[in-house]
Amino acid sequence: MKKSLSILEIHIDELLGEDATLVREARKATELSYSPYSKFAVGAAILLDNGEVLKGANQENASYPVGICAERSVIAMAQNLWPNVPVLSLAIAAKDSEGNFTEQYVTPCGMCRQTIAELEKRYQRNVRILMCSAQKVAIVESINTLLPLGFS
Ligand code: THU
Repeated sequence: MKKSLSILEIHIDELLGEDATLVREARKATELSYSPYSKFAVGAAILLDNGEVLKGANQENASYPVGICAERSVIAMAQNLWPNVPVLSLAIAAKDSEGNFTEQYVTPCGMCRQTIAELEKRYQRNVRILMCSAQKVAIVESINTLLPLGFS
């Protein structure tokens, strides 16, 4: 597995093919968010090695820690629907309390980084991560860039 540490920044309109699809789906997935407490609607979309694209969103709870992030929500769905199918890439987008896409890149929290690291370990494949802001996307080729020296 390649251990890349570089971050590519690109305008959303310049995305091509599967990257463009995944970002579009992640942005759409913000509509699936149940976030009455934070009012921060996060959407995530993943591309699987069988060509399937799945989307999910954060699902909050009155007992705050019970809530789940968009990334882990969609990853769990994928692993239950298609166990043993590698996840190739993941896009994340978010809308603020006013319903606007965030000006800053949405990056996965620590628990989600650890979850993505487990996917790379399980399948011995890099997971490409596309983190959206309103205009641009920051892309890394592996969770290693976001979670160097992670526990495995
Ligand atoms: N959240 C995500 O779904 N993904 C992230 O990458 C960051 C945070 C959610 C958790 C919570 O529902 C809300 O955003 C505010 O933290």
